[in-house]
Amino acid sequence: MIRAGVIGVGYWGPNLIRNFIANPETEMYICCDLNDKRLQYINSLYPAVLTTKDSAEIIKDQKVDLVAICTPVHTHYKLAKAALEAGKHVLIEKPMTSSSAQAEELIDLARKKDRRIFVDHTFVYTGSVRKIKELIQNGELGDIYYFDSVRINLGMFQHDVNVLWDLSTHDISIMQFLLTVKPESVVATGADHFGHGLEDIAYLTVYYPNNLIANIHTNWLSPVKIRETLIAGSKKMVVWDDNQPSEKVRIYDKGVEVIQSADQVYNLLIQYRTGDMHCPRLDGREALNVEIEQIVDCLKNNKPSCADGEAGWMVVKILESAQKSIKQRGKEIKI
Ligand SMILES: NC(=O)c1ccc[n+]([C@@H]2O[C@H](COP(=O)([O-])OP(=O)(O)OC[C@H]3O[C@@H](n4cnc5c(N)ncnc54)[C@H](O)[C@@H]3O)[C@@H](O)[C@H]2O)c1
Repeated sequence: MIRAGVIGVGYWGPNLIRNFIANPETEMYICCDLNDKRLQYINSLYPAVLTTKDSAEIIKDQKVDLVAICTPVHTHYKLAKAALEAGKHVLIEKPMTSSSAQAEELIDLARKKDRRIFVDHTFVYTGSVRKIKELIQNGELGDIYYFDSVRINLGMFQHDVNVLWDLSTHDISIMQFLLTVKPESVVATGADHFGHGLEDIAYLTVYYPNNLIANIHTNWLSPVKIRETLIAGSKKMVVWDDNQPSEKVRIYDKGVEVIQSADQVYNLLIQYRTGDMHCPRLDGREALNVEIEQIVDCLKNNKPSCADGEAGWMVVKILESAQKSIKQRGKEIKI
């Protein structure tokens, strides 16, 4: 049995609690929040779960094996460091830390303490993303040309991070999970329309080797909610529309072939291929349920995780570089 303590039970923390309770191999033991009302809420739902206002109580408790950190981003580093130093495994909310230097420090500390870091890159555990990963891995899409994602809606404005650190984190973690290639550089632009110093719209381009390119558009100021990702390969193309209640992933047998005629070396002939479209069956389980199952498996059987400290670091590194680029109106920043 893995005993879990959750720090931070605002909007997202209760989802972790519910899923720790649902998993037969985890015990949801104790949770913490600075806000009494949030603790009362958890108490009313789950009277058996202990509550405290002091995170140190969770971190020092000998019975706790895994500390989940579900507080605002600027607090992740300090809480995760204290938990790792106390010999706990940690599950840190996305994005892992406020800087890549902090993430590096936590990775080193976990190594020294022989503890594990998991980062809650929730989307990589969805049936849609796991299906797309399978298509890429088994070569069905061919060589990947681009990853293009749009995640826009009205709000929720965050107080401590901009739209890039809030929403693009999801797309970057999905993109890195799927492409498994180290990016070369980023170019990003964005704007803060309310003078908070936090951009509410951002456009991020990531350059990879071999002409692979990615674009992520995130926006808190959109009248409509769009959650759409396009991935084009040399053989097939995928459209993932996460707003659809079913048939979220569509695989198109479409593409282009370039033929160079012998007599006209400089004349390229583009041939279009328009075949069938099909929607694969997806695992409909809640992502957090799958995630906790995999965390248990990693801990019990010493297996690697697809959302470990290094994966968290890469997401933060891309975000940090993108932030530098935004401040310089789209200057290219090497990773
Ligand atoms: N994985 C996902 O899909 C997903 C979705 C939403 C939020 N998140 C992440 O979860 C984290 C929390 O976001 P949220 O929307 O739940 O925020 P929130 O503001 O609703 O909740 C955060 C809670 O943490 C508490 N808190 C702050 N500092 C604390 C401390 N030192 N000790 C104990 N409690 C403390 C606050 O009182 C608050 O109740 C963020 O990192 C966010 O990016 C992830």
